[in-house]
Amino acid sequence: MMEAKTPTQSLTILTDMVLPSETNPLNNLFGGELLARMDRAASIAARRHSRRITVTASVNHVAFNRSIPLGSVVTVEAKVSRAFKTSMEVFLDVWIEDRESGLKEKANEAIYTFVAVDEFGKPVNVPELIPETPLEIERFNAALRRKQLSLVLAGKMKPNDATELKALFK
Ligand SMILES: CC(C)(COP(=O)(O)OP(=O)(O)OC[C@H]1O[C@@H](n2cnc3c(N)ncnc32)[C@H](O)[C@@H]1OP(=O)(O)O)[C@@H](O)C(=O)NCCC(=O)NCCS
Repeated sequence: MMEAKTPTQSLTILTDMVLPSETNPLNNLFGGELLARMDRAASIAARRHSRRITVTASVNHVAFNRSIPLGSVVTVEAKVSRAFKTSMEVFLDVWIEDRESGLKEKANEAIYTFVAVDEFGKPVNVPELIPETPLEIERFNAALRRKQLSLVLAGKMKPNDATELKALFK
């Protein structure tokens, strides 16, 4: 039996600047660059939780709510929000730091799913996750619904079997 872990144990913080080669023609951070940074941070968080090789199974949600200008200091925070059998949902919060005040402002968020695998790429079991804070509990509770939605959209689950989704429409 693997020992359960808390989200804090997987917390991964990636801080980096936005350089000219990473921007679009409006001089804001290129979306694909942000996706790559989030993928890296989320992959490390999933590895910290599982202590296994982890692969990105799906990007479930990304909201580019705010553009991130050239020169910004960007912090990507990743934490496992729920562990299933072999897969883990990782929640990402992206912040930009005001140059003068140093205050952090939320720029974007995203949700990725990772699967722990062995050396041959075969899925392996991961430890349970026990959420602690109200936000961690809220994200944990909604994760099964997101997993079912992702599986339905990927054609890996029949809509009829998506019990959590069906409950939403009752
Ligand atoms: C991710 C991968 C290991 C899943 O393999 P699979 O044959 O679907 O394996 P399974 O059906 O046993 O699923 C394994 C887990 O992934 C979950 N999963 C698979 N596809 C998923 C999706 N689209 N969304 C959410 N979860 C998914 C399953 O629900 C299962 O979770 P659980 O064990 O916690 O219940 C396999 O598809 C893979 O290796 N993909 C390539 C990964 C990669 O290279 N990523 C980088 C892309 S450049």
